Amino acid sequence: MTAPSTAQSCANIAFIKYWGRRDHALRLPLNGSISMNLDGATTTTTVIFDPALDEDRVIILDAGTTAQAAHRVSAHLDRVRALAGITTRARVVSRNSFPMGTGIASSASAFAALTVAACAAANLTLDERALSILARLGSGSACRSIPAGFVEWHAGEDSETSYAETIAPPEHWDLRDLIAIVQTAHKDVGSTTGQALVDSSPFSEARLAAAERGLAVVRNAIRACDFETFGEETEQEALRMHAVALTSQPSVLYWSPETVRIMQAIRAWRAEGVRAYFTIDAGANVHVLCPGADVDALAKRLRELKGVRDVLANRPGPATRLIDAHLV
Ligand code: PMV
Repeated sequence: MTAPSTAQSCANIAFIKYWGRRDHALRLPLNGSISMNLDGATTTTTVIFDPALDEDRVIILDAGTTAQAAHRVSAHLDRVRALAGITTRARVVSRNSFPMGTGIASSASAFAALTVAACAAANLTLDERALSILARLGSGSACRSIPAGFVEWHAGEDSETSYAETIAPPEHWDLRDLIAIVQTAHKDVGSTTGQALVDSSPFSEARLAAAERGLAVVRNAIRACDFETFGEETEQEALRMHAVALTSQPSVLYWSPETVRIMQAIRAWRAEGVRAYFTIDAGANVHVLCPGADVDALAKRLRELKGVRDVLANRPGPATRLIDAHLV
């Protein structure tokens, strides 16, 4: 039996979204994307390769493990085993610090943590770019949780050139992401299903062209710490992604009435001079972006809104890293 290896990874929130793939098996995206790691939304995963096992054992603590999730983890372990030249089965134990399936990207932190823990347990030394590529094969957005801070995923030409890297470290900008939780149940339509429908939307090409332009706007605004330019483009991109989801066939509607209530509140507060913009992933929860100085006042306002069950505050988070606290 190998010694346990444990990795901790942050979820990430995309400002320019990954929505649509040009290769589903390799998870190659239609467009590049930009995100920030979320220091308060983490997955911790321990991996041990154990010759006594005849199949992988996967436990997701506090959430229960579906056969589908276990199968996806096993398929990812197969990629690591192939690279390491081993066939040993593994014990995997994982825990999230946030509810799964709510639009907080649990698959991103899950596959980034699994990649780093499994490689360490298999004595496989890969550089950050190779880890990002490997994580991408497990879940697209996971490639962005490997590097630290503010991150860009290059769409690339092929698998070797489609990876994520840091564009600014966490300490570069005190941007905050407040996640207004309105739903904790598993979402009806997973992002994998939604991603596969993109081509059926009449708006997909227009959104793609706008997202390409948005990449430079958001990258430059992050580098310049220009909150208003950053926020305007980020909010527009969220609406563009959801416009594609809404007009896919079949249509995918991720919002609940509470989602729309928060979107309207943000706009009303902005008209009063509050510095805040929203973005939304493949779920009903709303991510509210604001400067560090405004976070307490904004969190208070959000908590007072009807239907908001909790508000999770995040700063720019670190890279996926090995830690010493094992789950087994
Ligand atoms: O990595 P996936 O297949 O879970 O897709 C993530 C999709 C969004 O979260 C909606 C957008 C993004 O870029 O993270």
